[in-house]
Amino acid sequence: MNSRFFSQTPDHPLPVAHHGQGVFLFDDQNRKYLDGSSGAMTANLGHCNAEISKTVKEQIDLLTFTYRSQFTNQPLELLCNKIAALAPGSLEMVAFANSGSEAAELALKLAYSYWKSCGKPNKQRMISRWNSYHGSTIGALSMSGNVARRQEYSAYLSDFPRLELPFCHHCPYEKEYPQCNLFCAEYLQRILTQLGEETVSAVICEPVTGASGAGITPPEGYFQKIREICSRNHILLIMDEVITGFGRTGTHFASEHWGIQPDIIVFGKGVSSGLCPLSGIIADRRIYDSLYEKGMSFSTGHTFSGNPLSTAAANGVLDYIEKHDIVRKTGEKGILFKKKLEELKSGCKLIEDVRGIGLLWGIEFSKGGTLFLPEEKLTTKIVSQCFKNGLIVYPSAGFIDGVRGDSILLSPPLVITQEEIELLFALLEKSIREVEGQLAF
Ligand SMILES: Cc1ncc(COP(=O)(O)O)c(C=O)c1O
Repeated sequence: MNSRFFSQTPDHPLPVAHHGQGVFLFDDQNRKYLDGSSGAMTANLGHCNAEISKTVKEQIDLLTFTYRSQFTNQPLELLCNKIAALAPGSLEMVAFANSGSEAAELALKLAYSYWKSCGKPNKQRMISRWNSYHGSTIGALSMSGNVARRQEYSAYLSDFPRLELPFCHHCPYEKEYPQCNLFCAEYLQRILTQLGEETVSAVICEPVTGASGAGITPPEGYFQKIREICSRNHILLIMDEVITGFGRTGTHFASEHWGIQPDIIVFGKGVSSGLCPLSGIIADRRIYDSLYEKGMSFSTGHTFSGNPLSTAAANGVLDYIEKHDIVRKTGEKGILFKKKLEELKSGCKLIEDVRGIGLLWGIEFSKGGTLFLPEEKLTTKIVSQCFKNGLIVYPSAGFIDGVRGDSILLSPPLVITQEEIELLFALLEKSIREVEGQLAF
């Protein structure tokens, strides 16, 4: 096909998707794929979920666009109230954008403007973490510690990442939890002392690492310590919940697992379950009050931010989550996933580690404990074999040091049924075993 689509994978033409139904996608040859990654952790309530589509269809006949400096709109106001009711503590002021990258940049700007409103304009630096991903725009990529994704545009990027991840399976400090006393979290204090807290506005973290580290979940105490250091040093804590927000980990927001209240939450993806583009931030009330008491402006978005179709879709999503008890059920499915993944690991030589929470799981691969070489392209082999067998999984390579480390992410729609979970694991095991066979394991 002579496509004029500016493909990211010109050597590898993609199938043409035709329709979706629940956890399945179908291409134009009527091949069926089980979407084991919800696209990119996005179609959380499945494809073409009729209850959500209905809210958008109703909205489309009523009001399709308003501009943010001229009007607010009903679905937007409703959505802000719903999000504020779900978010932890005093996180209650919501601003919208269209992609996770834009929302991450909103958080970056807001942190700076907030400190400026407090009379501290020198608090400009943002600290982030290696093996993180906050988006593809230049500001969001600057915050991201994903070495491969930074590489091509390094000339344009600021040097934000500084912290190592709490990655116990390959501890960057070669320590053991809990004897380490959470050295990786404590390291934040050292960095703040070196940089001077008066120059730092915020720390941004993914609660559970997504594409840059397949399900790396911090040990108990890590985020509590990060929170404590941020508060002690007058630094905002931004949690990037673009993947983890709205039920993915078995809580509305993953921050709840550690009982912490961030100062800003970044959300996107699952908030509209892939129906319409929508993202945003939820800020602590005190941040909003400080800005507006000082009469300072904060530019909160883009032309399409908070448009009625996207916000209507998100209202449909949040209603569906509540009505069908999705968050609790995701927690339960997560326990089943953990059990099944551990069983799979015990029978597959290729599997080095399984990690995650709720319905966000990573599977790491090794050659009997030794890392594959990057040129062996193990992650690509696994993802392609799964795809051939009709299972979509998300690649995550290079999480050790930017080049080494092979893994995949499993993050199926939260509405996946027991029978579909069985099918997912059957296709996954078949695919891994076929790759094992090719490698003469
Ligand atoms: C944690 C996280 N933040 C931000 C983003 C960027 O979102 P988007 O691709 O919608 O710009 C992503 C995308 O994968 C993400 O995983």
